[in-house]
Amino acid sequence: MSHSVKSLLRAESALPDITLKGWVRTRRDARDFSFLEVNDGSCLANLQVIVAAGLPGYETIKQFNTGAAVKIQGDLVESPGKGQRWELRATAIELIGGAGEDFPLQKKRHTDEYLRTIAHLRPRTNKYGAMFRLRSRLAHAIHCFFQERGFHWIHTPIITGSDCEGAGEMFTVTTLDLAQAPKVAGKVDFNQDFFGREAHLTVSGQLSVETCCLALGKVYTFGPTFRSENSNTSRHMAEFWMIEPEVAFADLAADMTLAEELIRYLVRFVLQECAEDLDVFARFVDQGLIPRLENIASHDFIRLSYTDAIAILLGSGHSFEYAPAWGRDLQSEHERFLTEVHFKQPVIVHDYPKEIKAFYMRCNDDDRTVAAMDVLVPAIGEIIGGSQREERLDVLTGRIEATGGRQEDYWWYLDTRRFGSAPHSGFGLGFERLLMLATGVGNIRDVIPFPRTPRSLEF
Ligand code: 4AD
Ligand code: MG
Repeated sequence: MSHSVKSLLRAESALPDITLKGWVRTRRDARDFSFLEVNDGSCLANLQVIVAAGLPGYETIKQFNTGAAVKIQGDLVESPGKGQRWELRATAIELIGGAGEDFPLQKKRHTDEYLRTIAHLRPRTNKYGAMFRLRSRLAHAIHCFFQERGFHWIHTPIITGSDCEGAGEMFTVTTLDLAQAPKVAGKVDFNQDFFGREAHLTVSGQLSVETCCLALGKVYTFGPTFRSENSNTSRHMAEFWMIEPEVAFADLAADMTLAEELIRYLVRFVLQECAEDLDVFARFVDQGLIPRLENIASHDFIRLSYTDAIAILLGSGHSFEYAPAWGRDLQSEHERFLTEVHFKQPVIVHDYPKEIKAFYMRCNDDDRTVAAMDVLVPAIGEIIGGSQREERLDVLTGRIEATGGRQEDYWWYLDTRRFGSAPHSGFGLGFERLLMLATGVGNIRDVIPFPRTPRSLEF
C-alpha cells in the first residue's frame, strides 16, 4: 500500500520502507543528491524526497521533471533541513509517467486567465488544488449541517418539464434532429420528441423538493442547476450547484434564521477545518479574507425590509449606475453598497415587491410585497434567494395566471395545495458563490473545475 503525503507529514515517528506515488513539483540536482518536491493532492504540502546519486536507476533522474508522475520507495526520516519535519530517503525510484519541458506549469505563478485556458491542468497548481479540496470539504459540511438537524436529502430531477423560476432561461433537452425537426403550425412538434413533450434542464429543484417537504417535513436538495441567461458576469454561470432546503410549517423569519445559521456554520467550518488550504487564499488572493470570515462567523446578520433598503440607498447620496427606486430589483451595485459600505456585514433583505419576484412566493397582506428574502454578503452581493411559499390554492393559481403561466402545467404542484397544504419556506444557496465568499476569489469561473459560460465549452 502506498502512503499519502498528508499521512506521512503527520507521522509520529520515523517509518522504514514506505511507498509514495505522486507528481513532481520541482527537482534540484546537487553533486551527491537530487531533491524532489512531490505532491499527491492529499494536501497542499509537498514531501521532500532525497535521491542519492549512487542509487540504482539514478541515471533516469533527469526525467523526473516538473509534472512527472513518480513512485518512490524509501525511509521516512527526520529532516535535518529547515522547513519540514520529515523527508523521504529514496531506496528505489520509478518514473510512472514523464512530463516534457513543454509541461505548461513550469513557473510558480500564472494568471487566472491563463490557467482557465488549461482547466485540465490547473488542478495541479497549489491554488486550484486548494480550491477543489475546499470545494469537496464544504460539500461535505453542507450535508453534515442538514443531516445533523434531521433534514432528508432529496434527489430532484435534472431533466424537467416545468420552469421553476418562470424566467424562461432554460436549456432544451431533445433527441430530435435539429435540421429536420417535425413541425406543426410552424413550431417544433415536441410530441414526437423523446419525452413526448418539451423537456429542459432544471433551473432549480425547488418545486420538486416542495412536494417532498410536504411529506418528510425537513428536506434539502443539492445538485447541479442550469440557466441559459446570457449574462457574462463574474458571478453567473450556465451550470452551477445549488443547495435548496425546504421546511414545513416554517415562516419567513424561520427561513432567514436557517439561512444565517447555515452560512455561519460553513464559514466556521472552513476557518477551523480547512486552515492549510484557506491560507493560500488569505496570502495570495485576498489579505482581508480571514478577518472578513471571522466577522461573519461572530456577528448576527442585519435584517432589513426591501422598503427600508431602498430608503437607505436613496438617502445615501451615493451615485449609482442604476438609480434605486421602489418596485425595481436591487442591482448588484446596490447589494454591495448595503453590505460593503453601509453595514459592513451580511444583510438579509426581505419583503420584496411582488412584481419582481417569482409566482410561488407568499403574498403579504399589503398585496404589494411577497415574503421573499435575499442574503447579501460583502464582495459578492446575493448568495441566497428564498421565500415563504404561497400555500393558499386560490392565491397561488391567481399568481400563476398573472405571471403568464398555465395552471395545467403545474397541476401536480397545485395538488400539494389541495391535499394537506401547510405553510412552508425554503431557499437556494449558490454553491459557487459560497466558495467565492470562503476564498475571496473574485471570478466564479475559478471556483469550479470546468466552468460553463456563454460561448465557452472547451473541456
Ligand atoms: O435566487 P435564485 O434564482 O432562487 C431560486 O432558484 C429558488 N428556486 C431557490 C429556492 O428558493 N429554493 O437562485 C438561488 C441562488 C442565488 O442566490 C445565487 O447564489 C445562485 O443561486 N445563482 C447562481 N449562481 C451562479 N450562476 C448563476 N447563473 C446563478 N443564478 C443563481
Ligand atoms: Mg435570486
